[in-house]
Amino acid sequence: MPYPLKESDELIFFVNGRKVTEKNVDPEVTLLAFLRKTVCLTGTKYACGRGGCGACTVMVSKHDPVSRKIRHFSVASCLVPICSLYEAAVTTVEGVGSIKTRLHPVQERIAKSHGTQCGFCTPGMVMSMYALLRNHPQPSEEQLMEALGGNLCRCTGYRPILQSGRTFCKEADGCQQQETGQCCLDQRENERPEKQCCADKAILLLPSIKMCTELFAKEEFQPLDPTQELIFPPELLRMAENPEKRTLTFSGERVTWISPGTLQDLLELKVKHPEAPLILGNTSLGPAMKSRGHFYPILLSPARIPELKMVTKTSDGLTIGAGCSLAQVKDILAESISELPEEKTRTYQALLKHLRSLAGQQIRNMATLGGHVISRHCYSDLNPILSVGKAALNLLSEDGPRQIPLNDHFLAGAVSADLKPEEILESVYIPHTQKWEFVAAFRQAQCQQNALPDVNAGMRVLFKEGTDTIGDLSVTYGGVAASTISAHKSCHQLLGRRWNERMMDEACRLLLDEISLPGSAPGGKVEFKRTLIVSFFFKFYLEVLQELRTQGSHRYPEIEHSPLSTLEDFPGTIPQGVQTYQRVDSHQPLRDPVGRPIMHLSGLKHATGEAIFCDDIPRVDKELFMALVTSTRAHAKIISIDTSEALQLPGVVDVVTAEDIPGTNGTEDDKLLAIDEVLCVGQIICAVVAETDVQAKRATEKIKITYEDLEPVIFTIEDAIKHNSFLCSEKKLEQGNIEKVFEMVDQIVEGEVHVGGQEHFYMETQRVLVIPTTEDKELDIYVSTQDPAHVQKTVSSTLNIPINRITCHVKRVGGGFGGKVGRPAVFGALAAVGAIKTGHPIRLVLDREDDMLITGGRHPLFGKYKVGFMNSGRIKALDIECYINGGCVLDDSELVIEFLILKLENAYKIRNLRLRGHACRTHLPSNTAFRGFGFPQGTLVTESCITAVAAKCGLPPEKVREKNMYKTVDKTIYKQAFNPEPLIRCWNECLDKSSFHSRRIQVEEFNKKNYWKKKGIAIVPMKFSVGFGATSYHQAAALVHIYTDGSVLITHGGNELGQGIHTKMLQVASRELKLPMSYMHICETSTATVPNTIATAASIGADVNGRAVQNACQILLKRLEPIIKKNPEGIWEDWVKAAFEQRISLSATGYFRGYKAFMDWEKGEGDPFPYYVYGAACSEVEVDCLTGAHKKIRTDIVMDACCSLNPAIDIGQIEGSFIQGMGLYTTEELQYSPEGVLYSRTPDEYKIPTITDVPGQFNVSLLPSSQTPLTIYSSKGLGESGMFLGSSVFFAIADAVAAARRQRDITEDFTVKSPATPEWVRMACADWFTEMIPRDDPKTFKPWSIPIA
Ligand SMILES: Cc1cc2nc3c(=O)[nH]c(=O)nc-3n(C[C@H](O)[C@H](O)[C@H](O)COP(=O)(O)OP(=O)(O)OC[C@H]3O[C@@H](n4cnc5c(N)ncnc54)[C@H](O)[C@@H]3O)c2cc1C
Ligand code: FES
Ligand code: FES
Repeated sequence: MPYPLKESDELIFFVNGRKVTEKNVDPEVTLLAFLRKTVCLTGTKYACGRGGCGACTVMVSKHDPVSRKIRHFSVASCLVPICSLYEAAVTTVEGVGSIKTRLHPVQERIAKSHGTQCGFCTPGMVMSMYALLRNHPQPSEEQLMEALGGNLCRCTGYRPILQSGRTFCKEADGCQQQETGQCCLDQRENERPEKQCCADKAILLLPSIKMCTELFAKEEFQPLDPTQELIFPPELLRMAENPEKRTLTFSGERVTWISPGTLQDLLELKVKHPEAPLILGNTSLGPAMKSRGHFYPILLSPARIPELKMVTKTSDGLTIGAGCSLAQVKDILAESISELPEEKTRTYQALLKHLRSLAGQQIRNMATLGGHVISRHCYSDLNPILSVGKAALNLLSEDGPRQIPLNDHFLAGAVSADLKPEEILESVYIPHTQKWEFVAAFRQAQCQQNALPDVNAGMRVLFKEGTDTIGDLSVTYGGVAASTISAHKSCHQLLGRRWNERMMDEACRLLLDEISLPGSAPGGKVEFKRTLIVSFFFKFYLEVLQELRTQGSHRYPEIEHSPLSTLEDFPGTIPQGVQTYQRVDSHQPLRDPVGRPIMHLSGLKHATGEAIFCDDIPRVDKELFMALVTSTRAHAKIISIDTSEALQLPGVVDVVTAEDIPGTNGTEDDKLLAIDEVLCVGQIICAVVAETDVQAKRATEKIKITYEDLEPVIFTIEDAIKHNSFLCSEKKLEQGNIEKVFEMVDQIVEGEVHVGGQEHFYMETQRVLVIPTTEDKELDIYVSTQDPAHVQKTVSSTLNIPINRITCHVKRVGGGFGGKVGRPAVFGALAAVGAIKTGHPIRLVLDREDDMLITGGRHPLFGKYKVGFMNSGRIKALDIECYINGGCVLDDSELVIEFLILKLENAYKIRNLRLRGHACRTHLPSNTAFRGFGFPQGTLVTESCITAVAAKCGLPPEKVREKNMYKTVDKTIYKQAFNPEPLIRCWNECLDKSSFHSRRIQVEEFNKKNYWKKKGIAIVPMKFSVGFGATSYHQAAALVHIYTDGSVLITHGGNELGQGIHTKMLQVASRELKLPMSYMHICETSTATVPNTIATAASIGADVNGRAVQNACQILLKRLEPIIKKNPEGIWEDWVKAAFEQRISLSATGYFRGYKAFMDWEKGEGDPFPYYVYGAACSEVEVDCLTGAHKKIRTDIVMDACCSLNPAIDIGQIEGSFIQGMGLYTTEELQYSPEGVLYSRTPDEYKIPTITDVPGQFNVSLLPSSQTPLTIYSSKGLGESGMFLGSSVFFAIADAVAAARRQRDITEDFTVKSPATPEWVRMACADWFTEMIPRDDPKTFKPWSIPIA
């Protein structure tokens, strides 16, 4: 019910300097929705809707009534309720700069530094950097990292984005390559690194080849001029000087927003509406209202009340207003720490430590201290510290003030210890610490930054004056129960004890007894969490011991095993790196762009938000919105579908079910809409069509489906094997005689490898807009896909109309990675059915949650190997059997298992080899194509096997790799001939550039000295085959028109996914036509201009389409030749004009028939791939054995790109795929419930790498002087191969873990499991803490999640 107070007030705020006055504003509308839908500023993107990705970042400027200054801060607009913007100025990417008027230096630099690929994250990145520069025109590198920590990018690997931001930083002028910060030119000659210094002007002279390390010209950047920025609107300043004191009310359809102007009014309103929450940052309320169905008809906003933002410093502590943002709290604490003696600030230091890693900058800018405390999330990072630090809550109501302790009763929500309904939290009092009091904070999350903690803790001890006798002790944990909990009993029992090892030992046992975590606890990871409970306490023990030692008056025991520094958290480092490539020949004409680092064609438009993605297309006349209804059961009969209640809802137009499909409903096994039976949770059953997206989504919740569960229900590979449940027949390759050779070898090892799946997490979720025309059943489909022809065909068969009536348009795709090859056809077809049924255009935009639930991803894998080898490390026989979890329908699973088997030998020549693969059918959403297509999972088995052999032979793994690698021209297991020379060169260069051998010695030295931290280093080789394995899949076409003004329009069959294919195509056309790229344009990929295209995938998009474009240009140039000959001094425009007058066609189709490729599985022979890409990567990591965290110290990649068409783009592909691979092998973990429901559906639950995950030093070099005659200008496709190189990080972690286990005398092998999450690492680094935790009998409880690989 709307609040029946009075008419709505006017909401006044500014967007990009323009005043917005909204009369009937709906409080449920977010700033993001307002920007995109109401004022059509579509530069700001939707990617998650929960504050977790930064794509929607904008800057908000507000007058701060306390400091009387203007505050500029970045926010996640998807969580900003529009009503909270009263008297605020919003700046979006459009307000920062434009290609039509003036580019802002931030926009120019991110584009020209090649910091954009698909460009979907770019506006958010720009806005985060812009907000930083508004506050700090010359930021430090730490500030830059902090500002970008909340922005995800799935394409670039972050390095170029950071590099662009770094051009604004104070330190940026120095040499970036020395960890010391000292420029290599300042060092003596014999101390200079082998690498190039940036001051050397980026040219490295090798004997005959010029290598280059500069991908853009920094000197050309326009300077930052802060005086050019938009000013804070004077009208808002006037309003702020004379603040409105009356209560403002904004009434929407369902919700009323009340914003009192005075504290007194707020207190009165709280009495009137005790159930109404106070809405501050909305970072807790917002996600709960969006995803957990929380609903509040009245929201009270105290945003205009200065009392809630006051900060008071007294002699005994700090009182911070509940309305201060966490970013402000961070600054306040930092200030106090700098002002006060160290002993008084220990609680503040602990809080500050966690505030650095809590969420991203946007969330810290929005979330308030009050909101954080009151939300009482079990994972809260601040509450455990506030609780042990004896913080108190200052409450207010009409009855007056009151103080309550922030203790565990409050945190558990006990009524007696809580706020009364009419009370509000005014401020939080945090006392100073005393001389003999120590406070520490701990947290462990899936990754270091921007990730909710698995477990955190606040710990405090107060010693009796001048002694080490415990006078008071508090230990509080988060993440281990429904709320933050304190270990009161344990602490009490330890009072009076001395701070020594016996106390520590007993404390651990008491804590484990008191904090009991059931085996079925929500969130899983139970044994890991139990281990952290004691590991954290151990860290605390050592930290305090160290403090006591520095305080000095007593003799305290030496800290055993390792220096204390090894217990510290990993410091955040600013990644550095060098990118090296071969310069084009000095004789190449300047106008010929091939081989040069040309910026992505859309780079500037990405940076200004002017690049149009599918959902940025303005609303078309009579457009309706579609939302999908999916199965909640894994395997069941559909008994009934009741749509009646949904159809009654306002705005709902129709519900589309299988019966509405005029043509075919998918295939027999893979239905577009389920009928009769569902095969997985997330299978689409029907779709609601409504006037708005909100109405359609609300209606989906009202559709009632009744099911009858069916047997069997299979989720895991283990169960699929038991039930003989497979999607296709076994794929097998074999050579030699493994059984016989197994009898002759020195040793045999058998092992198992588990590799988890991966979510594509393209930043742009699946989207489509279908526009039916009134004539001839024609349909225009705008879709985000890698394969428009497949969408076209599927829509044709679904609607039963000829293909020629359907035109698919793809302007650009916000990331695909294989996830937009098959599935977009389903969404396109469903939207098309809706369009035909209703006669309206239909827009379908998947929520992140739905996208992750429905679409499936990389196949999880279980591999077994048996390897026979000599003591020298020479492998004589190898038998590998792999099973992939294909999900419920075939999709691409057969192809994936075929490719996996074909690629499994990787770089190794093993004469007796058997490779077998099976695709399991389970009741999970179908897994599908994903960058690398089976190679990244499968080859992890091969490489793990090599590591195991090395361990048994007592050899370093790199020796065993080298020994077994292909060395001379040879044939693969499927008898394809190839020359491994570039592989060997990559390997040797990588060893050399990374100084591998000397660093291996340093790693060993480090490990000898450190018990609790271990370093690991690993180098992996790669032979990656590109292409589809079938000739017809390599064909490509292009259409090139020359217009009479001389301009050239190019279309080809490839889709722009961010990989820069359009840029490369213009480079090709420019060389062929001998014409600058500025004459040329690519509008879109369309099935009307180039028909029957092949999916842009398998790394060969630029290859094959480049050949087609080349062909078309050559045809045209041939036609123009006689004219040019006649008038050699003429210019292009003259020749074109003459050609037109002479009736010479200025339009040509180019065609490439494709590389020959085939595979005969019967014989196990073929020539399935046109060529191989070779590479090698070396990574070094440091692991914290107590928490499982790791830090990536350095990665060096050498890749054989042959003659790169565009080194900036190719290096971008290598870096981006490497980081994506690193995510696969370290943090990206999909969790399923025992009922087959995917839990990990948001960026909170699924962690892709962030900017802080980039290796501290990240060097990429392209192998010089390499040639492949087969491809366009001898270039190679690099889209996928880098993925696997991410495994070098995995093997480095495994190396560190193995070192820890050796030191602990654990001889038993550990099971190789990817991703190497902190949980896996911690539990594999077994020690007395992992031994002391209670273990549950798996038969006695139902786990929270199940492993499906
Ligand atoms: C993407 C993301 C990442 C995050 N990561 C982390 C993390 O790593 N670690 C962590 O600890 N937290 C994390 N959080 C949670 C975050 O810290 C909290 O959501 C936030 O602090 C809540 O503050 P808010 O101002 O947004 O509260 P709101 O959502 O506005 O309000 C939350 C609750 O507090 C009540 N409330 C607010 N102020 C008052 C008051 N003055 N008096 C009485 N009641 C009040 C409201 O009524 C409401 O019930 C994350 C959140 C997001 C969205
Ligand atoms: S869309 Fe707002 S943070 Fe992801
Ligand atoms: S460029 Fe960052 S997500 Fe694509």
